[in-house]
Amino acid sequence: MNPRLKALKKHIFYCGSEHCNGQDAEAVIDAFKEQFVEHGIHKEVKVNKTSCLGMCGNGPFILVYPEGIWYYNVTVDDVPRIVEEHFVGKEPVEELVLMRMEG
Ligand code: FES
Repeated sequence: MNPRLKALKKHIFYCGSEHCNGQDAEAVIDAFKEQFVEHGIHKEVKVNKTSCLGMCGNGPFILVYPEGIWYYNVTVDDVPRIVEEHFVGKEPVEELVLMRMEG
């Protein structure tokens, strides 16, 4: 297996469509990328943009897999806490969780 793929532990998606972009989705994902580097976990997380998730007005959304957790209304100020508590500490930030995918 490709060593880059073998190192991955999480895959996150963010909505990059019009409404979420208007709510600073790109700034939020840039903040995540900075935090991943700061915590030395940037090689463990794959980041991809999605099209509209059909819940415009509640973004930006950050979807975290394999947990299947959807964060909503994420701000740049929320990012350090999400990375420290969820990505490093393994405890999701419940007050920002919209839903969890079953299974
Ligand atoms: S534009 Fe992001 S949910 Fe629709």
